Amino acid sequence: MKVLLIGSGGREHALAAALNRDTTLEELHVAPGNPGIAEIALCHPIDIDDNKAIVELAKKLAVDLVVVGPEKPLVNGVADALNKANIACFGPSKAAAQIEGSKDFAKQVMRDAGVPTGKSFTCNSRTEIEKALDTFGAPYVVKHDGLAAGKGVVVTDDRDLAIEHALQADQVVIEEFLDGPEVSLFGISDGTTVIAMQPAQDFKRAFNGDLGPNTGGMGAYSPLPWAPDEIMEETLDQVLNPTIAEMAARGTPFVGLLYAGLALTSRGTKVIEFNARFGDPETEVLLPRLKTPLAQLLFAAATKNLANFGELEWSNESAVTVVLASEGYPTNPKVGAPITGIQTNSNSYVFHAGTQLRDGALQSAGGRVLAVTGLGSDLTQARDAAYRTISRISLPGSHYRSDIAFNASVAEKGN
Ligand code: AMP
Ligand code: GLY
Repeated sequence: MKVLLIGSGGREHALAAALNRDTTLEELHVAPGNPGIAEIALCHPIDIDDNKAIVELAKKLAVDLVVVGPEKPLVNGVADALNKANIACFGPSKAAAQIEGSKDFAKQVMRDAGVPTGKSFTCNSRTEIEKALDTFGAPYVVKHDGLAAGKGVVVTDDRDLAIEHALQADQVVIEEFLDGPEVSLFGISDGTTVIAMQPAQDFKRAFNGDLGPNTGGMGAYSPLPWAPDEIMEETLDQVLNPTIAEMAARGTPFVGLLYAGLALTSRGTKVIEFNARFGDPETEVLLPRLKTPLAQLLFAAATKNLANFGELEWSNESAVTVVLASEGYPTNPKVGAPITGIQTNSNSYVFHAGTQLRDGALQSAGGRVLAVTGLGSDLTQARDAAYRTISRISLPGSHYRSDIAFNASVAEKGN
């Protein structure tokens, strides 16, 4: 099989590594890719917002499958353009990607499908905003309706700040605060059949102890030793299957990865958000443990053949991913700093998230620079492997959290 993967981050590097392990893969192309991906696949420069260019490249390379990493091309309708050209695409149509592209649309789908989620109001004016905030009280949860590259959600006790954030968008969703741990659970869908992946947890705040601003994700771990055994079954029954059925019933079947961000609240599991693509850094923590051939899995989903695919196979190992971020990330990341000391071994991976080559030297090119995944027989061993590898890497001014999966590893040891 020949595959073209779209994207350039740590998620795509992890996808590329896992696709390469599938023995049916003949050629792996990535557009645009990054210096880490270029070591394991053929990279092609491209503007990922240009649907026509993506279709042309897929045709020129005569690929069997296109896998779309980031949400923006999906919301732009790249899957529709590819399908029109008879090219199989793992990733939803423009209409189905609205499940990530509009928080209000996601709420409507959940309401119609009977999927548990927080109560919310969609607001278009200051009066509506203030009324909704006062109905729920603090802590206030305000979400811009459209794609906001991780900057759309504010959770705050400060009513004035909540109003200020709300007024920055034309339409906002104001939601009740959901307590309890968060879990990311991915469903692979062919439009009717869904296969659940194992759950992961990511760390969204910038600094140790869940302090500091929200980020794209500073680390993750999987599996979750503390999570209820039936979490995958329950999420399939209560969230993934009803959502996929509702999307099909609306005439906009969802083909691709449905990312359920869950809150395990004292009143049961509730959906915090849906995304229409693989999560980052959850992908970097999950895929090194996936034994099922990934190209075959994604091809089966894209060609509506998941019903007989069978269950996914996972390694029994634990995995921990730690993100190395640039100086100033997330507020004002500095780029262009030299990266040295990357050494991998049999129990760690270094995925490039925001890197570039300048005169043959590797340097930072984004806020999140590398995602380092360690594997081990339990979370303690996996943490050791990840932290050993990341501590040897030098990037002036950079920072990473030292507490990724720490509490879970202590609890696991105590059991
Ligand atoms: P989202 O982009 O919807 O995932 O929101 C980003 C982050 O904001 C989530 O991962 C949560 O940590 C937090 N958040 C979102 N919605 C809520 C909610 N209703 N209650 C508490 N925290 C929330
Ligand atoms: N890990 C959060 C996301 O991918 O949106």
